Amino acid sequence: WHFSPLIIVILGASGDLAAKKTYPSLFSLYTSGLLPKQFKIIGYARSPKTIESFREHVGKYLSDDGNGGVDKQRFLENCDYINGKSYGDEDAFKVVNTSIQTFSPVANKLFYFAIPASTFAVSATTIKTTIMGEGWLRIILEKPFGHDLESCRELTESLAQSYDEENLYRIDHYLGKEMVQNLMTLRFSNLYFSRLWDSQSIAAVLLTFKEPFGTDGRGGYFDRYGIVRDIIQNHLMQVLCLIAMEPPLKVDGSSSDQIRTNKVNVLKAIEAISIEDVVLGQYEGYRDDPTVPDNSTTSTFCALKLHINTPRWEGVPFILKAGKALDERKAEIRIQFKDAPAASFMFDTPVPRNELVIRLQPREAIYIKTNVKTPGFSSQPVQSELEVDYTTRFGASDSKNNPDAYTRLILEVLRGRSAGFVRKDELEEAWRIFTPLLHQIERERQMPIIYQQGTRGPEHDVKVEEWGYLRNSEYVYYNGAVV
Ligand code: BG6
Repeated sequence: WHFSPLIIVILGASGDLAAKKTYPSLFSLYTSGLLPKQFKIIGYARSPKTIESFREHVGKYLSDDGNGGVDKQRFLENCDYINGKSYGDEDAFKVVNTSIQTFSPVANKLFYFAIPASTFAVSATTIKTTIMGEGWLRIILEKPFGHDLESCRELTESLAQSYDEENLYRIDHYLGKEMVQNLMTLRFSNLYFSRLWDSQSIAAVLLTFKEPFGTDGRGGYFDRYGIVRDIIQNHLMQVLCLIAMEPPLKVDGSSSDQIRTNKVNVLKAIEAISIEDVVLGQYEGYRDDPTVPDNSTTSTFCALKLHINTPRWEGVPFILKAGKALDERKAEIRIQFKDAPAASFMFDTPVPRNELVIRLQPREAIYIKTNVKTPGFSSQPVQSELEVDYTTRFGASDSKNNPDAYTRLILEVLRGRSAGFVRKDELEEAWRIFTPLLHQIERERQMPIIYQQGTRGPEHDVKVEEWGYLRNSEYVYYNGAVV
């Protein structure tokens, strides 16, 4: 693909996602020399704009190229803009086609759907009937992929009428994060992790997503989806699959379907979530957002427990927790091990459990909460860390060493590697697990527990402990500060 001409068409080019993620990621691929020499990006949206004003708009979101704007200028010269009446406007799509044919009739074509899911099907059909030429045609899709099992199936079926599954790349940007991509290496290339990775050694798994801000102007969208659909059903479940799946035979492109099959097998072993295993919250002030109805019962916080019914995970609780307007920005995985058998015979005080923490953000790190003797005269154990901090160890704050999730994923599409994208059966299984719960919540319209903004959310620690994860409140993470 690297030597063939490439056309990228971004549908919804004037929107937020395109400006904040798609164009900056393409620019980053360009400055890293990862786009073909001959490429063109066509932005397509409904609002009429001149090419100049569109380039100016996109330019504002591109990072400083470090060479006085020369790269930026060259990149933008390859960016065009075409507008149409709708995302299924045949005449406008024909104009896109003419632009593609003039550029090169043999170009590979990547369509990026940064548009509402309700227009996916009509855009796909219109592309099918209007866009011609040789070269591959791949489509990147952005969530939401439906709002329950049934609507997801409808969407999948309507897309399947125009395109084969292998040409559809459903993005879950969590799959593009360094530490999520790291999970397979961590699990399967370290003897001590692979030997301990099951119910014999693991007491509980906790996945946490926290954001310090609320709906931030996205209230209209958010209120229809809620935290379970926005974060848990997709991002956290994808991470869970990579933690829980059986080893695939090869991790490169050739085995992408095996990785996804192993992930689906995890989902198939999970029963639909029961409302008894869920804590729901809504932050105080959520309904003050003018785009949110005054009587909204949508949850902005959710903690829940599930089990994976396989021999490896028998009895191990997986606890998923996500919330908006909380005390900090953090996404992490905690694998809590069982009590060390000899410890209770040797020490007077309870000995904390070992815990492997994989911090996705901010500041990627992996550490193992490890008991050591309290230094000095005491012989009591104290919890400390064995740590790899990605910033000090690998210079991970540098965008070349640690490219944005979208940049990584778009490159995977160009390479034709699907392992990091969500296959239709994964999607359906994930919806199957959550649909009964979501329907019940919506039917009963129970008010979630109100919590203060900037806190850890509604009271859920007792429940989480009941589910099997023990929090060591004595422990303070050592972040390099001199003590
Ligand atoms: C998006 C959600 O998918 O992920 C947002 O729709 C959320 O609500 C975002 O803020 C979080 O992504 P990240 O990469 O900042 O953790």
